[in-house]
Amino acid sequence: MAILKIARMGHPVLLQRCQPIDDPGAPAIRRLVADMMETMEDAPGVGLAAPQVFQPLRLFVFRVPGERAANDPHDTPIGNSVLINPELELIGDERVLGWEGCLSIPGMRAAIPRASRVRYRGVDCDGNSITREVSGFHARVVQHEYDHLDGILYTARLTDYTLFGFNEELTRAEMIRQGQPT
Ligand code: NI
Repeated sequence: MAILKIARMGHPVLLQRCQPIDDPGAPAIRRLVADMMETMEDAPGVGLAAPQVFQPLRLFVFRVPGERAANDPHDTPIGNSVLINPELELIGDERVLGWEGCLSIPGMRAAIPRASRVRYRGVDCDGNSITREVSGFHARVVQHEYDHLDGILYTARLTDYTLFGFNEELTRAEMIRQGQPT
């Protein structure tokens, strides 16, 4: 396994629509997934999409740490997970504002509106299909990572630029009470 270099905002690999993966079980994909999980843990982050490690493929890894999950049956902690060729469906019209970071935008954070509930589907490296309906932080992480596969960074979803800044400054201003980068 290896820790991979992470592309930063401004690199064109982060702005393109990624390609579907023909063979999720291919050795190169398994290796990429293992390396992305190691890279996400090392960063540390709670999500990492393939374009962030210079691979424009429709795949991301994520996790929901216990301290981030709400007390909700649809927002439970989940260990390192992968979604290959995911589909995402937003449920309902409710949007909630929450703090997000991105390993491609180091040191910064913003409050971004996201659907409070989503349904997603995808496969893992063994071809198992994954279908989940989730809410809260779990739903937020998946929406953020899914956006990366379409070349969308959270900055494109900003609705209030007063809620965007460097972590240190936002913390000093007591605008952030909790959170780890996404
Ligand atoms: Ni990100």
